[in-house]
Amino acid sequence: MSEAPYPLDGTSGAQVVPVSDALGGEIRGIDLSRDMGDATFVAIHRAWLRHLVLLFRDQDLSTAGQVAFSRRFGDLDLAPVDEYGRKHREGFPEILVVSNVVEDGEPIGSLGALESKWHTDMSYDERPPRASCLLSVKIPATGGNTGFLNMYEAYETLPPALAGRIRGLTLKHDATYNSVGLLREGAAPVTDVTASPGTSHPIVRTHPETGRKALFLGRRNAAYINGLSVEDSEALLDEIWAHTTHDRFTWHHQWRVGDLLIWDNRCTMHRRDGFDTRSQRIMHRTQIMDDRPPSSGEMP
Ligand code: SIN
Repeated sequence: MSEAPYPLDGTSGAQVVPVSDALGGEIRGIDLSRDMGDATFVAIHRAWLRHLVLLFRDQDLSTAGQVAFSRRFGDLDLAPVDEYGRKHREGFPEILVVSNVVEDGEPIGSLGALESKWHTDMSYDERPPRASCLLSVKIPATGGNTGFLNMYEAYETLPPALAGRIRGLTLKHDATYNSVGLLREGAAPVTDVTASPGTSHPIVRTHPETGRKALFLGRRNAAYINGLSVEDSEALLDEIWAHTTHDRFTWHHQWRVGDLLIWDNRCTMHRRDGFDTRSQRIMHRTQIMDDRPPSSGEMP
């Protein structure tokens, strides 16, 4: 049973409705297209740190409105290069279009209709975004649901022996493949995980705002635990992932048009179901920059 709904401080009548035992809270009674006072934003931010993912339904939000709301959480990163080598959209360089729609023979966005595996956005960067914000513009009748995973809980429930084995280790987050397994523009297939491009981060990170520790895995494909043989790295990663991707740490969101989700990349992973290629799905994503690289929080 999820926690009971509670009032959103600093507002008259808005509520936080927890959506699962694992993570996620729906904020009811807030219109994101209207100016929001600082007290309301502080309460939203507090709820976000507590529930890791926030859902706002029935929003009539322009692209500029999404950018403005995202900016309350921090400066925005530019959209990453997509699998077609395209960098930024004209007018809105911060918006990544996630879509399978093809117009005049050209895909308007990335990821197609494929399933995307559990991952944390842009974790191969030196300073991966602290948050991502996704607005649904068009959705298929079925499929395309997005799942979230609570990485604090995955860490806190590790068997002690496994927690001991990963203490102090760093993981190389591969930059070659996107979350649906496609090669990024200009990248070569990985034949040696020790040599592929990417950035190393602590496998256990401390959240700079909550002080809680969380697993930080990025994505499974082509990951490598530094300092181990490839065989040992693969075996240890398999053990960690088998523990982490347990249903009890997850919540899956079924989209409606006008839903906006904002999630904390420092303590969650996400994935999405594939869907029928004959249907259309259009989502707009912003990425909120972090001002520091992930840290274990341990003294060197
Ligand atoms: C993403 O991985 O950011 C996109 C998720 C989705 O398409 O639901």
